[in-house]
Amino acid sequence: MLKGIAGKTAIVTGAAGGIGAAAVRRLHAEGANVVAVDINQAGVDALATELGDRVLAIGADVTSPEDTAKFFATTVEKFGSVDMFYANAGVESRVLTVADFDINDFEKVFAVNVLSAFLGASAAMRQMATQPERGKIVFTASIAGLKGDAGVGVYVASKHAVIGMSKSLMKEAGPQGIRVNVVAPGVVDTRMMRPLEEGLAGLAGIDVETFKGAMSAAVPMGRYAEPEEIAATAAWLLSDEVPYMHGEVVTVGGGLWP
Ligand SMILES: NC(=O)c1ccc[n+]([C@@H]2O[C@H](COP(=O)([O-])OP(=O)(O)OC[C@H]3O[C@@H](n4cnc5c(N)ncnc54)[C@H](O)[C@@H]3O)[C@@H](O)[C@H]2O)c1
Repeated sequence: MLKGIAGKTAIVTGAAGGIGAAAVRRLHAEGANVVAVDINQAGVDALATELGDRVLAIGADVTSPEDTAKFFATTVEKFGSVDMFYANAGVESRVLTVADFDINDFEKVFAVNVLSAFLGASAAMRQMATQPERGKIVFTASIAGLKGDAGVGVYVASKHAVIGMSKSLMKEAGPQGIRVNVVAPGVVDTRMMRPLEEGLAGLAGIDVETFKGAMSAAVPMGRYAEPEEIAATAAWLLSDEVPYMHGEVVTVGGGLWP
């Protein structure tokens, strides 16, 4: 068991997705109360049914300040505190070069990936400052937040923004006793990779299976990550196992980075 999770309360966003659902299951297994937030209400309801009464499912849009205020308030009302906040919701961009970019895609990706991280972090900071034991915040960025690749400039820019924000936040949060870290996955076998594989294969002029083989081969470990492998790192950063880790960007890429 990871120290400092049992009996505490976590909010996980993007909880109906691959990495988010794995994080909800892991934090629940470690004994936490978990508030599972996603725009996909049916997805989080299914998780709550699967795991039982320490999981509260909330259908919410993380790009909305009102929804964000509500899911924080509901969490405090039901469980009394927010000890861990995992800002994980995100969307992929369309695969388009910068020359061919799509303004609607840009706005959507920045709203879900960047604005939501700001809104959630802001609410978490205000709530945790009122709690004697403060808390921990983890963001899911990406190795795409550390380097660029052709065709995904919008997504890459959004994940660089998340990492940039975390660097300011950790300076504000550290003196208050709130730890802030980032988990930066490489390629993870979730829904999100399917449209990216298709788009990137198209950009390279190869078929999807060939692209997937080349993508796996580019990873020194020779495969995509399973979502549970990312969730394990997030849970570790949210736990008391690593009390001096603060302001870190922890890559989980099977060797893809650097
Ligand atoms: N899959 C990968 O290879 C990979 C790699 C690096 C980083 N990431 C990041 O990991 C995180 C999780 O992605 P995933 O791979 O589990 O993908 P996923 O598509 O399975 O999960 C994303 C979840 O976010 C939810 N979501 C989207 N917009 C929302 C909104 N406005 N409000 C509330 N919820 C919303 C979706 O409904 C979905 O359940 C994302 O931030 C993603 O950018 C993924």
